[in-house]
Amino acid sequence: MSTDLDPSAARARELTTEPGGLTTDGAGSALPAEQPVEALAPERALATDEVVVLDYGGQYSQLIARRVRECGVFSELLPHHVGADEVRRRAPKGLILSGGPASVYAPGAPALDPALLELGIPVLGICYGMQALVRALGGDVKGAEVGEFGRSRLTLAGDGGRLLGGLPAEQSCWMSHRDTVFAPPPGFTALASSSESPVAALEDVERGLYGIQFHPEVVHTPYGQEILTRWLTDVCGCATDWSPESIAAEQIERIRAQVGDGRVICGLSGGVDSSVAALLVHRAVGDQLTCVFVDHGLMRKNEGEQVISAFRDHFKVPLVAVDAEDRFLARLKGLSEPEAKRKAIGAEFIRVFEEEALALEGAAYLVQGTLYSDVIESGGGTGAATIKSHHNVGGLPEDLEFELVEPLRALFKDEVRAVGAELGLPERLVWRQPFPGPGLAIRIVGGEATKERLDTLRDADAILQDEIRKAGLYRELWQSFCVLPDIRTVGVQGDERTYGYLVAIRAVTSDDAMTADWARLPYDLLEQIASRMINEIREVNRVVLDITSKPPGTIEWE
Ligand code: XMP
Repeated sequence: MSTDLDPSAARARELTTEPGGLTTDGAGSALPAEQPVEALAPERALATDEVVVLDYGGQYSQLIARRVRECGVFSELLPHHVGADEVRRRAPKGLILSGGPASVYAPGAPALDPALLELGIPVLGICYGMQALVRALGGDVKGAEVGEFGRSRLTLAGDGGRLLGGLPAEQSCWMSHRDTVFAPPPGFTALASSSESPVAALEDVERGLYGIQFHPEVVHTPYGQEILTRWLTDVCGCATDWSPESIAAEQIERIRAQVGDGRVICGLSGGVDSSVAALLVHRAVGDQLTCVFVDHGLMRKNEGEQVISAFRDHFKVPLVAVDAEDRFLARLKGLSEPEAKRKAIGAEFIRVFEEEALALEGAAYLVQGTLYSDVIESGGGTGAATIKSHHNVGGLPEDLEFELVEPLRALFKDEVRAVGAELGLPERLVWRQPFPGPGLAIRIVGGEATKERLDTLRDADAILQDEIRKAGLYRELWQSFCVLPDIRTVGVQGDERTYGYLVAIRAVTSDDAMTADWARLPYDLLEQIASRMINEIREVNRVVLDITSKPPGTIEWE
Protein backbone atom coordinates (compact mmCIF):
# COMPACT_ATOMS: atom_id res chain seq x y z
CA MET A 1 0.00 0.00 0.00
CA SER A 2 1.11 3.51 -0.42
CA THR A 3 -0.33 4.58 2.89
CA ASP A 4 2.58 5.60 4.98
CA LEU A 5 1.75 5.52 8.62
CA ASP A 6 5.17 5.50 10.07
CA PRO A 7 6.76 8.81 10.99
CA SER A 8 10.21 7.32 10.88
CA ALA A 9 9.47 6.12 7.36
CA ALA A 10 8.27 9.55 6.32
CA ARG A 11 11.22 11.26 7.94
CA ALA A 12 13.62 8.68 6.56
CA ARG A 13 12.28 9.45 3.10
CA GLU A 14 12.91 13.11 3.72
CA LEU A 15 16.46 12.51 4.72
CA THR A 16 17.16 10.56 1.57
CA THR A 17 15.75 13.28 -0.64
CA GLU A 18 17.86 16.01 -2.16
CA PRO A 19 16.35 19.47 -2.01
CA GLY A 20 15.06 20.23 -5.47
CA GLY A 21 14.62 23.98 -5.27
CA LEU A 22 16.07 26.13 -7.98
CA THR A 23 18.91 27.66 -6.06
CA THR A 24 21.83 28.96 -8.01
CA ASP A 25 24.61 26.65 -7.01
CA GLY A 26 25.29 23.21 -8.36
CA ALA A 27 27.69 22.62 -5.50
CA GLY A 28 26.80 20.90 -2.32
CA SER A 29 24.64 17.98 -3.40
CA ALA A 30 26.22 14.64 -2.76
CA LEU A 31 27.28 12.34 -5.53
CA PRO A 32 25.03 9.33 -5.89
CA ALA A 33 26.20 6.45 -3.76
CA GLU A 34 27.41 3.33 -5.52
CA GLN A 35 24.34 1.11 -5.70
CA PRO A 36 23.61 -2.15 -7.40
CA VAL A 37 22.40 -1.07 -10.79
CA GLU A 38 19.90 -3.84 -11.38
CA ALA A 39 17.89 -2.39 -8.53
CA LEU A 40 17.46 0.89 -10.34
CA ALA A 41 16.19 -0.47 -13.61
CA PRO A 42 12.43 -0.35 -13.96
CA GLU A 43 12.86 -3.42 -16.21
CA ARG A 44 10.41 -2.63 -18.92
CA ALA A 45 9.62 -4.13 -22.22
CA LEU A 46 10.63 -1.24 -24.44
CA ALA A 47 7.49 -0.11 -26.15
CA THR A 48 8.77 3.43 -26.50
CA ASP A 49 12.18 4.97 -27.17
CA GLU A 50 14.40 5.59 -24.21
CA VAL A 51 17.13 8.07 -23.31
CA VAL A 52 19.46 7.38 -20.40
CA VAL A 53 20.48 10.23 -18.11
CA LEU A 54 23.68 9.49 -16.21
CA ASP A 55 23.70 11.21 -12.85
CA TYR A 56 26.96 12.87 -11.87
CA GLY A 57 25.36 14.21 -8.69
CA GLY A 58 23.83 17.44 -9.97
CA GLN A 59 20.93 18.94 -8.10
CA TYR A 60 18.88 19.04 -11.30
CA SER A 61 19.54 15.47 -12.51
CA GLN A 62 16.04 14.24 -11.71
CA LEU A 63 14.65 17.31 -13.34
CA ILE A 64 16.53 16.49 -16.58
CA ALA A 65 14.90 13.04 -16.63
CA ARG A 66 11.49 14.60 -16.03
CA ARG A 67 11.96 17.19 -18.76
CA VAL A 68 12.95 14.48 -21.25
CA ARG A 69 9.75 12.67 -20.39
CA GLU A 70 7.81 15.90 -20.79
CA CYS A 71 9.15 15.95 -24.35
CA GLY A 72 7.43 12.56 -24.78
CA VAL A 73 10.50 10.35 -24.47
CA PHE A 74 10.95 7.80 -21.68
CA SER A 75 14.09 8.44 -19.64
CA GLU A 76 15.87 6.67 -16.84
CA LEU A 77 18.24 8.27 -14.37
CA LEU A 78 21.18 5.99 -13.59
CA PRO A 79 24.21 6.61 -11.39
CA HIS A 80 27.30 7.71 -13.33
CA HIS A 81 29.26 4.62 -12.39
CA VAL A 82 27.03 2.09 -14.14
CA GLY A 83 29.35 1.64 -17.09
CA ALA A 84 28.85 1.47 -20.82
CA ASP A 85 27.58 -2.14 -20.87
CA GLU A 86 24.73 -1.32 -18.54
CA VAL A 87 23.74 1.65 -20.70
CA ARG A 88 23.99 -0.45 -23.86
CA ARG A 89 21.73 -3.12 -22.31
CA ARG A 90 18.91 -0.59 -22.31
CA ALA A 91 19.41 0.18 -25.99
CA PRO A 92 18.76 3.90 -25.52
CA LYS A 93 18.52 6.29 -28.46
CA GLY A 94 20.62 8.87 -26.65
CA LEU A 95 22.71 9.48 -23.57
CA ILE A 96 22.70 12.61 -21.39
CA LEU A 97 25.51 13.32 -18.93
CA SER A 98 24.15 15.42 -16.08
CA GLY A 99 25.67 18.26 -14.12
CA GLY A 100 27.47 17.60 -10.87
CA PRO A 101 28.91 19.38 -7.86
CA ALA A 102 32.55 18.49 -8.41
CA SER A 103 35.24 20.26 -10.37
CA VAL A 104 36.54 17.94 -13.09
CA TYR A 105 39.95 18.43 -11.44
CA ALA A 106 38.83 17.65 -7.88
CA PRO A 107 40.36 14.51 -6.41
CA GLY A 108 37.89 11.68 -6.91
CA ALA A 109 35.77 13.64 -9.38
CA PRO A 110 33.91 11.14 -11.55
CA ALA A 111 35.72 10.82 -14.85
CA LEU A 112 33.92 10.14 -18.07
CA ASP A 113 34.29 6.55 -19.24
CA PRO A 114 35.38 6.94 -22.91
CA ALA A 115 33.45 3.77 -23.77
CA LEU A 116 30.26 5.78 -23.20
CA LEU A 117 31.18 7.84 -26.24
CA GLU A 118 31.54 4.72 -28.40
CA LEU A 119 28.00 3.40 -28.03
CA GLY A 120 26.97 4.65 -31.42
CA ILE A 121 24.31 6.95 -29.95
CA PRO A 122 24.29 10.75 -29.56
CA VAL A 123 25.62 12.08 -26.26
CA LEU A 124 24.67 15.39 -24.66
CA GLY A 125 26.78 16.69 -21.79
CA ILE A 126 25.14 19.27 -19.56
CA CYS A 127 27.32 21.49 -17.32
CA TYR A 128 29.66 19.03 -15.55
CA GLY A 129 28.73 16.48 -18.25
CA MET A 130 30.01 18.86 -20.93
CA GLN A 131 33.19 19.66 -19.00
CA ALA A 132 33.95 15.97 -18.48
CA LEU A 133 33.32 15.34 -22.18
CA VAL A 134 35.62 18.20 -23.20
CA ARG A 135 38.33 17.06 -20.82
CA ALA A 136 38.14 13.44 -22.01
CA LEU A 137 38.48 14.52 -25.64
CA GLY A 138 41.37 16.96 -25.23
CA GLY A 139 39.63 20.35 -25.10
CA ASP A 140 40.59 23.14 -22.72
CA VAL A 141 38.60 23.24 -19.48
CA LYS A 142 39.83 25.10 -16.43
CA GLY A 143 38.62 26.34 -13.08
CA ALA A 144 37.86 30.03 -13.78
CA GLU A 145 38.51 32.91 -11.38
CA VAL A 146 34.90 33.95 -11.64
CA GLY A 147 32.07 31.47 -11.39
CA GLU A 148 28.81 31.89 -13.27
CA PHE A 149 25.78 31.28 -11.11
CA GLY A 150 22.22 32.15 -11.96
CA ARG A 151 20.80 33.96 -14.96
CA SER A 152 23.22 34.62 -17.81
CA ARG A 153 23.11 35.88 -21.37
CA LEU A 154 23.83 33.38 -24.13
CA THR A 155 25.14 34.64 -27.47
CA LEU A 156 25.13 32.30 -30.46
CA ALA A 157 28.32 32.01 -32.48
CA GLY A 158 27.59 31.88 -36.19
CA ASP A 159 24.36 30.09 -37.05
CA GLY A 160 24.16 28.10 -33.79
CA GLY A 161 24.86 24.80 -35.54
CA ARG A 162 22.58 21.78 -35.42
CA LEU A 163 21.76 22.13 -31.75
CA LEU A 164 20.97 25.84 -31.49
CA GLY A 165 20.44 26.94 -35.12
CA GLY A 166 17.36 29.10 -35.68
CA LEU A 167 17.08 30.14 -32.03
CA PRO A 168 17.44 33.83 -31.11
CA ALA A 169 21.04 35.05 -31.39
CA GLU A 170 20.75 36.39 -27.83
CA GLN A 171 18.81 34.58 -25.14
CA SER A 172 18.90 34.13 -21.42
CA CYS A 173 19.95 30.90 -19.75
CA TRP A 174 20.64 29.49 -16.31
CA MET A 175 24.22 28.77 -15.30
CA SER A 176 25.73 27.09 -12.27
CA HIS A 177 29.46 26.44 -12.69
CA ARG A 178 33.02 27.46 -11.92
CA ASP A 179 34.96 25.16 -14.27
CA THR A 180 34.79 26.70 -17.72
CA VAL A 181 35.49 25.50 -21.26
CA PHE A 182 37.94 27.80 -23.04
CA ALA A 183 38.46 25.79 -26.22
CA PRO A 184 36.53 22.85 -27.69
CA PRO A 185 38.26 19.52 -28.37
CA PRO A 186 39.48 18.83 -31.92
CA GLY A 187 36.60 18.20 -34.33
CA PHE A 188 34.09 20.25 -32.29
CA THR A 189 32.48 23.55 -33.20
CA ALA A 190 31.77 26.18 -30.55
CA LEU A 191 28.09 27.17 -30.83
CA ALA A 192 27.67 29.90 -28.24
CA SER A 193 29.32 31.91 -25.51
CA SER A 194 28.08 33.66 -22.39
CA SER A 195 29.48 36.47 -20.29
CA GLU A 196 31.76 34.16 -18.32
CA SER A 197 31.97 31.15 -20.67
CA PRO A 198 33.95 31.51 -23.91
CA VAL A 199 32.44 28.19 -25.00
CA ALA A 200 28.93 27.71 -23.61
CA ALA A 201 27.77 25.15 -26.18
CA LEU A 202 29.55 22.90 -28.67
CA GLU A 203 28.97 20.00 -31.02
CA ASP A 204 30.65 17.43 -33.18
CA VAL A 205 27.82 16.43 -35.47
CA GLU A 206 29.89 13.74 -37.18
CA ARG A 207 30.48 11.86 -33.92
CA GLY A 208 27.10 12.79 -32.44
CA LEU A 209 28.60 14.56 -29.42
CA TYR A 210 27.00 17.67 -27.94
CA GLY A 211 27.58 19.82 -24.89
CA ILE A 212 25.88 22.74 -23.19
CA GLN A 213 27.20 24.62 -20.20
CA PHE A 214 23.80 26.01 -19.21
CA HIS A 215 20.88 24.11 -17.73
CA PRO A 216 18.12 23.52 -20.30
CA GLU A 217 16.02 21.72 -17.67
CA VAL A 218 15.27 24.72 -15.44
CA VAL A 219 12.51 27.16 -16.23
CA HIS A 220 14.94 30.08 -16.23
CA THR A 221 16.32 28.84 -19.53
CA PRO A 222 13.37 29.81 -21.75
CA TYR A 223 14.53 27.84 -24.80
CA GLY A 224 15.68 24.88 -22.73
CA GLN A 225 12.76 22.60 -23.52
CA GLU A 226 13.00 23.45 -27.21
CA ILE A 227 16.70 22.60 -27.23
CA LEU A 228 16.06 19.31 -25.46
CA THR A 229 13.22 18.44 -27.83
CA ARG A 230 15.38 19.23 -30.83
CA TRP A 231 18.21 17.05 -29.55
CA LEU A 232 15.83 14.20 -28.71
CA THR A 233 13.96 14.24 -32.00
CA ASP A 234 16.27 15.66 -34.69
CA VAL A 235 19.54 14.35 -33.33
CA CYS A 236 18.56 11.10 -31.57
CA GLY A 237 15.54 10.38 -33.78
CA CYS A 238 13.32 9.55 -30.80
CA ALA A 239 9.59 9.13 -31.30
CA THR A 240 7.74 11.29 -28.78
CA ASP A 241 5.09 8.79 -27.79
CA TRP A 242 5.65 8.51 -24.05
CA SER A 243 2.27 9.77 -22.91
CA PRO A 244 -0.21 9.03 -20.14
CA GLU A 245 -2.01 6.78 -22.60
CA SER A 246 1.09 4.79 -23.54
CA ILE A 247 2.22 4.61 -19.91
CA ALA A 248 -1.14 3.16 -18.89
CA ALA A 249 -1.15 0.69 -21.77
CA GLU A 250 2.37 -0.48 -21.00
CA GLN A 251 1.78 -0.86 -17.27
CA ILE A 252 -1.44 -2.75 -17.84
CA GLU A 253 0.43 -5.22 -20.06
CA ARG A 254 3.17 -5.63 -17.48
CA ILE A 255 0.70 -6.21 -14.64
CA ARG A 256 -1.06 -8.90 -16.69
CA ALA A 257 2.23 -10.60 -17.40
CA GLN A 258 3.23 -10.53 -13.76
CA VAL A 259 -0.02 -11.50 -12.12
CA GLY A 260 -1.51 -13.98 -14.60
CA ASP A 261 -4.66 -15.29 -12.97
CA GLY A 262 -3.49 -14.58 -9.43
CA ARG A 263 -5.44 -12.64 -6.84
CA VAL A 264 -4.25 -9.19 -5.90
CA ILE A 265 -4.84 -7.01 -2.86
CA CYS A 266 -4.39 -3.27 -2.71
CA GLY A 267 -4.69 -0.91 0.24
CA LEU A 268 -6.38 2.33 -0.73
CA SER A 269 -5.50 5.42 1.28
CA GLY A 270 -7.46 7.95 -0.72
CA GLY A 271 -4.24 9.49 -2.01
CA VAL A 272 -3.38 9.72 -5.67
CA ASP A 273 -0.65 7.05 -5.69
CA SER A 274 -2.65 4.17 -4.28
CA SER A 275 -5.69 5.26 -6.32
CA VAL A 276 -3.83 5.24 -9.63
CA ALA A 277 -2.00 2.01 -8.80
CA ALA A 278 -5.33 0.35 -7.98
CA LEU A 279 -6.97 1.58 -11.15
CA LEU A 280 -4.14 0.30 -13.33
CA VAL A 281 -4.30 -3.11 -11.69
CA HIS A 282 -8.06 -3.19 -12.07
CA ARG A 283 -7.80 -2.33 -15.75
CA ALA A 284 -5.27 -5.12 -16.11
CA VAL A 285 -6.87 -7.98 -14.19
CA GLY A 286 -10.36 -6.78 -13.33
CA ASP A 287 -11.98 -8.47 -10.39
CA GLN A 288 -8.89 -10.47 -9.51
CA LEU A 289 -8.14 -7.27 -7.58
CA THR A 290 -9.67 -6.49 -4.21
CA CYS A 291 -9.05 -3.12 -2.65
CA VAL A 292 -9.07 -2.62 1.09
CA PHE A 293 -9.88 0.79 2.46
CA VAL A 294 -9.36 1.16 6.18
CA ASP A 295 -11.29 4.13 7.51
CA HIS A 296 -9.46 4.93 10.73
CA GLY A 297 -11.75 7.82 11.55
CA LEU A 298 -8.84 10.24 11.14
CA MET A 299 -9.64 11.30 7.59
CA ARG A 300 -10.89 14.66 6.44
CA LYS A 301 -14.60 15.33 6.14
CA ASN A 302 -16.30 13.10 3.55
CA GLU A 303 -13.00 11.75 2.23
CA GLY A 304 -13.79 8.16 3.09
CA GLU A 305 -17.11 8.38 1.28
CA GLN A 306 -15.43 9.94 -1.76
CA VAL A 307 -12.95 7.08 -2.03
CA ILE A 308 -15.65 4.44 -1.58
CA SER A 309 -17.98 6.02 -4.08
CA ALA A 310 -15.26 6.52 -6.69
CA PHE A 311 -13.95 2.99 -6.50
CA ARG A 312 -16.94 0.88 -5.61
CA ASP A 313 -19.75 2.77 -7.33
CA HIS A 314 -18.03 4.46 -10.23
CA PHE A 315 -15.14 2.19 -11.19
CA LYS A 316 -16.84 -0.99 -9.89
CA VAL A 317 -13.67 -2.17 -8.21
CA PRO A 318 -14.25 -4.88 -5.59
CA LEU A 319 -13.72 -2.96 -2.37
CA VAL A 320 -13.70 -3.93 1.26
CA ALA A 321 -14.30 -0.80 3.31
CA VAL A 322 -13.51 -1.28 6.96
CA ASP A 323 -15.04 1.16 9.39
CA ALA A 324 -12.40 0.94 12.11
CA GLU A 325 -12.95 4.30 13.76
CA ASP A 326 -13.84 2.86 17.17
CA ARG A 327 -10.81 0.60 17.20
CA PHE A 328 -8.46 3.46 16.39
CA LEU A 329 -10.04 5.83 18.88
CA ALA A 330 -9.72 3.17 21.56
CA ARG A 331 -6.04 2.78 20.76
CA LEU A 332 -5.53 6.55 20.90
CA LYS A 333 -7.13 6.90 24.33
CA GLY A 334 -4.89 8.72 26.76
CA LEU A 335 -2.16 9.33 24.18
CA SER A 336 -0.94 12.87 23.62
CA GLU A 337 2.69 12.37 22.67
CA PRO A 338 3.15 12.53 18.86
CA GLU A 339 5.28 9.44 18.38
CA ALA A 340 3.08 7.40 20.72
CA LYS A 341 0.07 8.34 18.59
CA ARG A 342 1.85 7.41 15.39
CA LYS A 343 2.98 4.06 16.76
CA ALA A 344 -0.48 3.21 18.01
CA ILE A 345 -2.07 4.10 14.68
CA GLY A 346 0.58 2.21 12.71
CA ALA A 347 0.22 -0.92 14.82
CA GLU A 348 -3.57 -0.88 14.65
CA PHE A 349 -3.47 -0.32 10.92
CA ILE A 350 -1.37 -3.43 10.41
CA ARG A 351 -3.75 -5.43 12.57
CA VAL A 352 -6.82 -4.36 10.61
CA PHE A 353 -5.17 -4.85 7.25
CA GLU A 354 -3.85 -8.24 8.28
CA GLU A 355 -7.34 -9.41 9.22
CA GLU A 356 -8.72 -8.31 5.88
CA ALA A 357 -5.83 -9.85 3.96
CA LEU A 358 -6.29 -13.17 5.74
CA ALA A 359 -9.97 -13.09 4.91
CA LEU A 360 -9.12 -12.77 1.23
CA GLU A 361 -8.10 -16.30 0.49
CA GLY A 362 -5.45 -16.93 -2.11
CA ALA A 363 -4.27 -13.35 -2.58
CA ALA A 364 -0.63 -13.67 -3.61
CA TYR A 365 0.09 -10.14 -4.81
CA LEU A 366 0.15 -6.82 -2.99
CA VAL A 367 0.00 -3.50 -4.84
CA GLN A 368 2.50 -0.83 -3.79
CA GLY A 369 2.45 2.78 -4.88
CA THR A 370 6.25 3.11 -5.02
CA LEU A 371 7.24 6.02 -7.26
CA TYR A 372 10.34 6.46 -9.41
CA SER A 373 11.58 9.24 -7.11
CA ASP A 374 11.45 6.75 -4.21
CA VAL A 375 13.49 4.32 -6.28
CA ILE A 376 16.09 6.94 -7.15
CA GLU A 377 16.25 8.53 -3.72
CA SER A 378 16.64 5.30 -1.85
CA GLY A 379 19.30 4.23 -4.33
CA GLY A 380 17.55 1.14 -5.55
CA GLY A 381 14.70 -1.29 -5.42
CA THR A 382 15.05 -2.87 -2.05
CA GLY A 383 15.36 0.35 -0.08
CA ALA A 384 12.38 1.83 -1.81
CA ALA A 385 10.27 -1.19 -1.08
CA THR A 386 11.20 -0.96 2.59
CA ILE A 387 10.07 2.63 2.84
CA LYS A 388 6.55 1.99 1.73
CA SER A 389 6.04 -1.64 2.58
CA HIS A 390 7.05 -1.09 6.15
CA HIS A 391 3.63 -1.77 7.53
CA ASN A 392 2.41 -4.15 4.93
CA VAL A 393 4.87 -6.71 3.85
CA GLY A 394 7.37 -6.15 6.64
CA GLY A 395 4.65 -5.92 9.25
CA LEU A 396 2.49 -8.82 8.19
CA PRO A 397 3.04 -12.35 9.48
CA GLU A 398 5.29 -14.65 7.50
CA ASP A 399 2.51 -16.91 6.29
CA LEU A 400 1.08 -13.89 4.51
CA GLU A 401 3.83 -13.42 1.98
CA PHE A 402 3.01 -11.28 -1.01
CA GLU A 403 4.77 -10.59 -4.23
CA LEU A 404 4.79 -6.84 -4.84
CA VAL A 405 3.08 -5.27 -7.82
CA GLU A 406 4.48 -1.79 -8.35
CA PRO A 407 2.90 -0.19 -11.40
CA LEU A 408 4.17 3.33 -10.57
CA ARG A 409 7.77 2.32 -10.08
CA ALA A 410 8.91 3.98 -13.30
CA LEU A 411 6.80 7.13 -12.88
CA PHE A 412 7.29 10.57 -11.45
CA LYS A 413 4.47 12.09 -9.41
CA ASP A 414 3.28 14.38 -12.20
CA GLU A 415 3.06 11.35 -14.50
CA VAL A 416 1.02 9.51 -11.87
CA ARG A 417 -1.44 12.39 -11.83
CA ALA A 418 -1.58 12.45 -15.63
CA VAL A 419 -2.23 8.71 -15.76
CA GLY A 420 -4.89 9.13 -13.09
CA ALA A 421 -6.63 11.77 -15.20
CA GLU A 422 -6.27 9.50 -18.26
CA LEU A 423 -7.97 6.67 -16.37
CA GLY A 424 -10.83 8.95 -15.39
CA LEU A 425 -9.96 9.41 -11.73
CA PRO A 426 -12.02 12.31 -10.33
CA GLU A 427 -10.15 15.60 -10.30
CA ARG A 428 -10.41 15.75 -6.50
CA LEU A 429 -8.44 12.54 -6.15
CA VAL A 430 -5.95 13.34 -8.91
CA TRP A 431 -4.96 16.61 -7.30
CA ARG A 432 -5.36 15.76 -3.64
CA GLN A 433 -2.74 17.45 -1.49
CA PRO A 434 -0.48 15.08 0.46
CA PHE A 435 -2.09 13.86 3.67
CA PRO A 436 -0.16 12.08 6.42
CA GLY A 437 -0.95 8.44 7.17
CA PRO A 438 -1.80 9.14 10.84
CA GLY A 439 -4.26 11.74 9.57
CA LEU A 440 -5.92 14.28 11.82
CA ALA A 441 -4.64 12.60 14.99
CA ILE A 442 -1.30 14.39 14.64
CA ARG A 443 -3.06 17.69 14.10
CA ILE A 444 -4.62 17.64 17.54
CA VAL A 445 -1.54 18.94 19.14
CA GLY A 446 -0.47 18.24 22.67
CA GLY A 447 -3.59 16.32 23.54
CA GLU A 448 -5.62 13.20 23.00
CA ALA A 449 -7.36 12.77 19.67
CA THR A 450 -10.89 12.29 20.94
CA LYS A 451 -13.93 11.96 18.71
CA GLU A 452 -15.15 15.39 19.82
CA ARG A 453 -11.87 17.11 18.98
CA LEU A 454 -11.53 15.24 15.71
CA ASP A 455 -15.00 16.36 14.67
CA THR A 456 -14.20 19.97 15.53
CA LEU A 457 -10.95 19.80 13.58
CA ARG A 458 -12.70 18.09 10.66
CA ASP A 459 -15.31 20.85 10.51
CA ALA A 460 -12.66 23.57 10.60
CA ASP A 461 -10.62 21.78 7.95
CA ALA A 462 -13.66 21.42 5.70
CA ILE A 463 -14.26 25.18 5.83
CA LEU A 464 -10.60 25.89 5.06
CA GLN A 465 -10.58 23.52 2.07
CA ASP A 466 -13.87 24.86 0.81
CA GLU A 467 -12.72 28.47 0.87
CA ILE A 468 -9.31 27.68 -0.59
CA ARG A 469 -10.89 25.77 -3.45
CA LYS A 470 -13.40 28.58 -4.06
CA ALA A 471 -10.49 31.04 -4.21
CA GLY A 472 -8.84 28.80 -6.84
CA LEU A 473 -5.75 28.30 -4.70
CA TYR A 474 -5.94 24.59 -3.87
CA ARG A 475 -3.48 23.38 -6.49
CA GLU A 476 -1.04 26.17 -5.81
CA LEU A 477 -0.58 25.03 -2.24
CA TRP A 478 1.49 22.01 -1.32
CA GLN A 479 -0.66 21.50 1.74
CA SER A 480 -3.33 23.45 3.57
CA PHE A 481 -4.82 22.26 6.82
CA CYS A 482 -5.92 23.17 10.32
CA VAL A 483 -4.32 22.36 13.63
CA LEU A 484 -6.22 22.11 16.90
CA PRO A 485 -3.93 22.62 19.89
CA ASP A 486 -5.14 21.32 23.20
CA ILE A 487 -5.77 24.76 24.63
CA ARG A 488 -8.78 26.97 25.09
CA THR A 489 -8.93 30.70 24.97
CA VAL A 490 -11.42 33.25 26.21
CA GLY A 491 -13.69 35.00 23.78
CA VAL A 492 -16.80 37.07 23.73
CA GLN A 493 -19.63 36.11 21.44
CA GLY A 494 -22.89 38.01 21.67
CA ASP A 495 -23.21 38.99 25.30
CA GLU A 496 -21.49 35.88 26.54
CA ARG A 497 -17.97 35.08 27.44
CA THR A 498 -16.79 31.88 25.85
CA TYR A 499 -13.97 29.48 26.56
CA GLY A 500 -13.37 27.74 23.29
CA TYR A 501 -10.90 26.06 21.00
CA LEU A 502 -8.23 27.80 19.02
CA VAL A 503 -7.77 26.73 15.40
CA ALA A 504 -4.49 27.38 13.60
CA ILE A 505 -4.36 27.63 9.83
CA ARG A 506 -1.30 26.10 8.15
CA ALA A 507 -0.87 26.61 4.40
CA VAL A 508 2.45 26.09 2.67
CA THR A 509 3.98 26.15 -0.76
CA SER A 510 6.68 23.60 -1.51
CA ASP A 511 8.14 21.45 -4.27
CA ASP A 512 8.90 18.37 -2.29
CA ALA A 513 8.15 18.92 1.44
CA MET A 514 11.88 19.18 2.15
CA THR A 515 11.60 22.93 2.40
CA ALA A 516 8.42 24.97 2.51
CA ASP A 517 7.29 28.55 2.74
CA TRP A 518 4.13 29.77 4.44
CA ALA A 519 1.59 30.74 1.84
CA ARG A 520 0.65 34.39 1.59
CA LEU A 521 -3.11 33.82 1.57
CA PRO A 522 -5.07 36.99 0.82
CA TYR A 523 -6.31 38.83 3.93
CA ASP A 524 -9.90 38.82 2.73
CA LEU A 525 -9.79 35.07 2.28
CA LEU A 526 -8.32 34.63 5.77
CA GLU A 527 -11.03 36.81 7.21
CA GLN A 528 -13.73 34.81 5.47
CA ILE A 529 -12.24 31.54 6.71
CA ALA A 530 -11.88 32.76 10.29
CA SER A 531 -15.34 34.21 10.44
CA ARG A 532 -16.92 31.06 9.03
CA MET A 533 -15.07 28.84 11.48
CA ILE A 534 -16.11 30.92 14.48
CA ASN A 535 -19.70 31.31 13.32
CA GLU A 536 -20.27 27.76 12.14
CA ILE A 537 -18.38 25.75 14.74
CA ARG A 538 -19.69 26.25 18.27
CA GLU A 539 -16.53 25.01 19.93
CA VAL A 540 -14.21 27.44 18.12
CA ASN A 541 -13.73 31.05 19.22
CA ARG A 542 -10.31 32.01 17.85
CA VAL A 543 -8.35 31.49 14.62
CA VAL A 544 -4.63 32.10 14.13
CA LEU A 545 -2.28 31.81 11.16
CA ASP A 546 1.02 29.93 11.19
CA ILE A 547 3.70 32.01 9.45
CA THR A 548 6.66 29.67 9.98
CA SER A 549 8.59 28.38 7.01
CA LYS A 550 10.43 25.05 6.87
CA PRO A 551 13.13 25.15 8.08
CA PRO A 552 13.05 26.12 10.90
CA GLY A 553 9.54 24.72 11.39
CA THR A 554 8.19 21.47 10.02
CA ILE A 555 5.04 21.39 7.95
CA GLU A 556 3.06 19.42 10.51
CA TRP A 557 3.01 20.64 14.10
CA GLU A 558 3.65 17.19 15.53
P1 XMP B 1 7.07 17.64 8.12
O1 XMP B 1 6.05 17.88 9.18
O2 XMP B 1 8.18 16.73 8.62
O3 XMP B 1 6.33 16.85 6.98
O4 XMP B 1 7.62 18.90 7.52
C1 XMP B 1 6.82 16.61 5.70
C2 XMP B 1 5.73 15.88 4.92
O5 XMP B 1 5.49 14.60 5.49
C3 XMP B 1 4.15 14.49 5.91
N1 XMP B 1 4.17 13.74 7.17
C4 XMP B 1 3.80 12.45 7.27
N2 XMP B 1 3.33 11.60 6.33
N3 XMP B 1 3.18 9.92 7.99
C5 XMP B 1 3.01 10.33 6.72
O6 XMP B 1 2.55 9.53 5.89
C6 XMP B 1 3.63 10.72 8.98
O7 XMP B 1 3.75 10.33 10.14
C7 XMP B 1 3.96 12.06 8.59
N4 XMP B 1 4.44 13.13 9.27
C8 XMP B 1 4.56 14.16 8.36
C9 XMP B 1 3.65 15.91 6.06
O8 XMP B 1 2.23 15.99 5.91
C10 XMP B 1 4.40 16.62 4.95
O9 XMP B 1 3.76 16.42 3.70
